[in-house]
Amino acid sequence: MNRKDLEKKSVCLVEGRFGKPDLRRIEIDDQAFMLKDVRRKNFFIRWTLGLWLIQQEWKIYSRLIGVKGVPQPVARIDRFAFAMEFIPGVPIERGETIPPSFFPDLDEVIKAIHSRGVVHMDLRHKGNILVSEKGEPFLIDFNSGFSFKEKGLLRCLFFPLFRWVDYGGLLKLKERVSPSSMTPEETDFLKRFNRLRKLWIFN
Ligand SMILES: Nc1ncnc2c1ncn2[C@@H]1O[C@H](COP(=O)(O)OP(=O)(O)O)[C@@H](O)[C@H]1O
Ligand SMILES: [Mg+2]
Repeated sequence: MNRKDLEKKSVCLVEGRFGKPDLRRIEIDDQAFMLKDVRRKNFFIRWTLGLWLIQQEWKIYSRLIGVKGVPQPVARIDRFAFAMEFIPGVPIERGETIPPSFFPDLDEVIKAIHSRGVVHMDLRHKGNILVSEKGEPFLIDFNSGFSFKEKGLLRCLFFPLFRWVDYGGLLKLKERVSPSSMTPEETDFLKRFNRLRKLWIFN
């Protein structure tokens, strides 16, 4: 895939606001891919925030190869864009029916990314969880995420806290989308989480 062909053949689905990447869909040999691209941002944004966002997210997707429930990375187009698997489905905010297996499956996806040393940090946002055509959860948008080195000091210090933030985000989403499936333990956890979150800088 080269940049010129991509620009000709792809369709922009979401124009990223401010410094955020554009989302472009492309079909090659009947297979669909999603591109995250900052090439069209202004010069300053493209070479600073844009470059950094693309590099960070590509690094995270590359660490999550083989994780079920995360789109697979396909190619790094150039320093401003990468391609990943296109997931046919809808963001959870527009999903009308969510099967009972959805949240337990999403819990497994989150455990799997954590086991690779990755945290998402924006699970509350309903645009970041897709419901596939089969009703399965897919986690996207690692722009706010971090990937920790295997045995680094940062991992020791922050990983437990960030994992806790992901779990709280997941329950917050579950409470909004499927309140009847919350267990009493989950409701209690969320109450404590919301109290403590008021002290949290990334609110
Ligand atoms: N791999 C993908 N497959 C299908 N749709 C996607 C994919 N990645 C993103 N999208 C769609 O694009 C929207 C925005 O993508 P996202 O990565 O969350 O970017 P942003 O940083 O703008 O929030 C998502 O809500 C989803 O509808
Ligand atoms: Mg998003």
